[in-house]
Amino acid sequence: MISISSLTVRFGGVVPIDDLNLTLDVGVNGLIGPNGAGKTTFFNVLTGFVKPVQGTVTAFGDDLLAMPHFRRIRWGLRRTFQTEQAVAELTVLENVLTVLEHSGGAKSSRRRDVVDAVEFVGLGDSLQRPVGALGAAERRLVEVARAVVGSPRLVLLDEPAAGLPDEETAALAQVIKEIPARTGALTILVDHDMALVNETCAHVAVLDFGHIIASGPTADVLNDARVMAAYLGEDIDV
Ligand SMILES: Nc1ncnc2c1ncn2[C@@H]1O[C@H](COP(=O)(O)OP(=O)(O)OP(=O)(O)O)[C@@H](O)[C@H]1O
Ligand SMILES: [Mg+2]
Repeated sequence: MISISSLTVRFGGVVPIDDLNLTLDVGVNGLIGPNGAGKTTFFNVLTGFVKPVQGTVTAFGDDLLAMPHFRRIRWGLRRTFQTEQAVAELTVLENVLTVLEHSGGAKSSRRRDVVDAVEFVGLGDSLQRPVGALGAAERRLVEVARAVVGSPRLVLLDEPAAGLPDEETAALAQVIKEIPARTGALTILVDHDMALVNETCAHVAVLDFGHIIASGPTADVLNDARVMAAYLGEDIDV
């Protein structure tokens, strides 16, 4: 379980996260909201790139914000970024292995972990191929492999399907859905693709310029009038 309490982030006059409170359980949780709502900033707080001015984050009983950010990887924090991070010239295996460089543990078990993660995303036959030789959908799967390698406890996926055609998004959805069962990790999926969110997430939270305006079972939240208003920018009474 992750529990976020009174979290506030300020960039000068901008307050992208404003006294945010949220509790999520193990499983795939959607985090949706319009452009600029603060979703990536929220991930940046969890990973330690951004320091909040106030608030606490307790994940599986640990005070996440008290950990130096390099320790969070060893603890089990993983993420993908809106831009691909894998290095085109390196192989799939090498790209996934770099995530574990500072994770401790024996080198032989790290290699086993990498192979497991790459096989999990369905790229077992491409371990030794350079990432630059892969297609767009396969490269996204490499990013997901980097986010599940080793023993993840908290997996943050920032728009992993952006720009993919529907059938490739559907294949990615099947992998994302399996993450909690395979790893036990609490997964948070940020995406604008509501079909993907609907397919993968049991629970959805909606961030609207720093505030959580809805959080609950996916079907309830996606039918919520306030959610539609936040997305469509309409002012409606609920
Ligand atoms: N390092 C930064 N310095 C100043 N402002 C920032 C910084 N990072 C983000 N912001 C601002 O914070 C707000 C939230 O941005 P954020 O990237 O978290 O939104 P988002 O919900 O991820 O949007 P998108 O769906 O477009 O990815 C925006 O107004 C953005 O311009
Ligand atoms: Mg973002």
